[in-house]
Amino acid sequence: MPLTVRITDVAPRDGLQNEPGSVPTASKATLVRRLAASGVDEIEITSFVSPKWVPQLGDAAELCQELAKDRQPGVVYSALVPNEQGLEAALAANARAGSRVVDKIAVIAAASETFSQRNTNASIAQSFERLAPVIRRAHEAGLAVRGYVSCIVACPFEGPVEPFAVAAVAGRLADLGVDEIDLGDTIGAGTPETIGRVISTTLQSLDESHGWDGASGVTLHLHDTRGLAAACVKVALELGVRSFDGSVAGLGGCPYAGTPTQPAPGNIDTRVLIGEIERCGLRHRIDRNTLERAAAFAAALRSAQRAETPA
Ligand code: HMG
Ligand code: MG
Repeated sequence: MPLTVRITDVAPRDGLQNEPGSVPTASKATLVRRLAASGVDEIEITSFVSPKWVPQLGDAAELCQELAKDRQPGVVYSALVPNEQGLEAALAANARAGSRVVDKIAVIAAASETFSQRNTNASIAQSFERLAPVIRRAHEAGLAVRGYVSCIVACPFEGPVEPFAVAAVAGRLADLGVDEIDLGDTIGAGTPETIGRVISTTLQSLDESHGWDGASGVTLHLHDTRGLAAACVKVALELGVRSFDGSVAGLGGCPYAGTPTQPAPGNIDTRVLIGEIERCGLRHRIDRNTLERAAAFAAALRSAQRAETPA
């Protein structure tokens, strides 16, 4: 089993989509550059979603143009894409930038009907129909595809989600040809027990029905509501997972996962994530000091946003 863990920082996407206002494009580019310099393997740089749904990321094409100026070699740049229109926009942004900026797209599915509907205006079944041509066309264009499964432990609207429902959605995404499954604990409801159960069930199902080799190809995406995310990382590492999403400074949250009493929680801080990986005796490629500088920049962006937006 590999000793080095792969890390994707999703702060520019999952983090900035949840800020009250739009961060300037130049600041987003600076955040991406600082993360790239820190040694993360991949950065989810933005989303090509409807700007009516997520106005904070409405500058995805402009950001790509900016990032094309000085790409850090060896770091994968990915972007969330919910439908064919989003894929076309991502491909057009690559073409306009004059060189490939987006290497990978991330498509979104969920293990909860209500969340699927609220987040993408589609049922679970409709989302597979919508994603099939997106995945096919992305591969034709030479882009890798990550498939998210949201609500792996609980849905903010329906409550607990059964592991077999998660395994079923992961299996459908595997059938559609995604290169990677990303299991998302969207509202940070997981405990080491529930996360362990859903990972085991999904890995077994992917292995039996799709011949996926153990945990390779599976990523864990944790939000950290109750300070249990690090313990969940430990369990996942024990089960063989070697790819995780973090968000520098713990930025993050899906705007469609909050409820009036419970705002969407931030992601596990990438600094907490690498601390846990080190405690478990495994390696990563991140330089902590450079990551700290990226974290300070991300925290300053968040403070500026909060200061500008009246409560
Ligand atoms: P819809 O309203 O059903 O779409 O939304 P539509 O096809 O009817 O189009 C409506 C309008 O949106 C049209 O514009 C389209 O052109 C436009 P109009 O004619 O009214 O002017 N439109 C688009 N514009 C730009 N880019 C596009 C696009 N598509 C349509 N791609 C849709 C359906 C999927 C678009 C919408 O629901 C959407 O954008 N949802 C995304 C929501 C989102 O980004 N949520 C957060 C990310 S998921 C998350 O955070 C969870 C995760 O972190 C994992 C975890 O934690 O579990 C990934
Ligand atoms: Mg998320």
